[in-house]
Amino acid sequence: MNLLKIIAVTAGLGTLVAAAGLAIMWRLRGRSIGVMMAVVAAVAVVATLAGVVAITLRMLIEGEARDLVLSVVAVGGLVGLGVAFILGRRVVAASRRLVDAVRTPGDFTAPQGLPAELQTIANTLEESFARERALEGARRELVAWVSHDLRTPLAGMRAMAEALEDGVVTDRETVLRYHTQIRLEVERLSGLVDDLFELSRIHAGALRLSRSRIGLADLVADTMAGAEALARAKGVRLSAEAGEVVPVEADAGALGRALRNLVVNAIRHTPTDGTVLLRAAVHVGMACLSVADCCGGIPEADLPRVFEVAFTGESARTPTGEGGAGLGLAIAQGIVEAHQGLIGVVNEGPGCRFEIRLPLS
Ligand SMILES: Nc1ncnc2c1ncn2[C@@H]1O[C@H](COP(=O)(O)OP(=O)(O)O)[C@@H](O)[C@H]1O
Ligand SMILES: [Mg+2]
Repeated sequence: MNLLKIIAVTAGLGTLVAAAGLAIMWRLRGRSIGVMMAVVAAVAVVATLAGVVAITLRMLIEGEARDLVLSVVAVGGLVGLGVAFILGRRVVAASRRLVDAVRTPGDFTAPQGLPAELQTIANTLEESFARERALEGARRELVAWVSHDLRTPLAGMRAMAEALEDGVVTDRETVLRYHTQIRLEVERLSGLVDDLFELSRIHAGALRLSRSRIGLADLVADTMAGAEALARAKGVRLSAEAGEVVPVEADAGALGRALRNLVVNAIRHTPTDGTVLLRAAVHVGMACLSVADCCGGIPEADLPRVFEVAFTGESARTPTGEGGAGLGLAIAQGIVEAHQGLIGVVNEGPGCRFEIRLPLS
């Protein structure tokens, strides 16, 4: 009977104290974890003490037993408070270290030996800082390269336009050549600006795909038709193998652009009389689009880098040549990845083979 009474009284008081503790924590919800821990410890101590005091007041226990219980509770409470205090200080110190590390200018490295949750935050921060730094570096390089790629042809166009304006060149043939040259440069620069715009949309995650069920065989046929003039001018044979339909859920415009970038590269890097082969097929449950050429192989060291923004494989950039600004493959990769696909390249036979893999529809 006594035991039931004791349980009822202590449980009732404990609930009251717990409610008060929760209310206090709610008021202090924006404060330090250390303060919260002190509240938790205090709730435990007060709940126990309240129970004991109530029981002793009702003379359920008396004399030596009462003193024993009271002192055990008091000492236990003090120990609990002490541990909560130390733990709170540790958490506060750890979070301060984290904040200091974040605020330190320069590279952020995660401090070690933090409590698990804070360590996770620190490691995640380190990763995202590193990613941000890499992106920022790439962006800066791109701006530097692009301004270089814009400035050189602009200088040439300006010189030609001035020569025409001042009447320095008058013979029909040169005048015609200058006009053609200026038009070609303008076309190339517009292409560059388009590519930059596309790339910035991809990087901003703002690529809007309007996907529908399309057949890769049709995409290959369209791309072939679009690239025929370029291939003929270069004396490159363009052929396709697309027997099956190969249905995918894709944005035909965007995917066509990605494929066109691969095909234009292949034609450009294939010598006269070489062949560029486009293929659409189903391979181990995936839709595969591949472009194989006769470029003689990409240097092993360049293979993993060809998809990088502004990578052109040349140590010196020569923007007046027929090469681009190194954006084509980065754009193709961005488009393919937006379709949950993969793009890759291997050296094979007389050249290399770029391959796009997409989930089948
Ligand atoms: N089919 C290919 N054969 C050989 N090298 C290639 C081929 N496609 C791409 N590359 C290499 O990858 C680089 C990057 O290609 P890309 O992003 O399209 O830029 P760009 O065509 O403007 O140079 C090229 O400069 C070239 O060095
Ligand atoms: Mg290209």
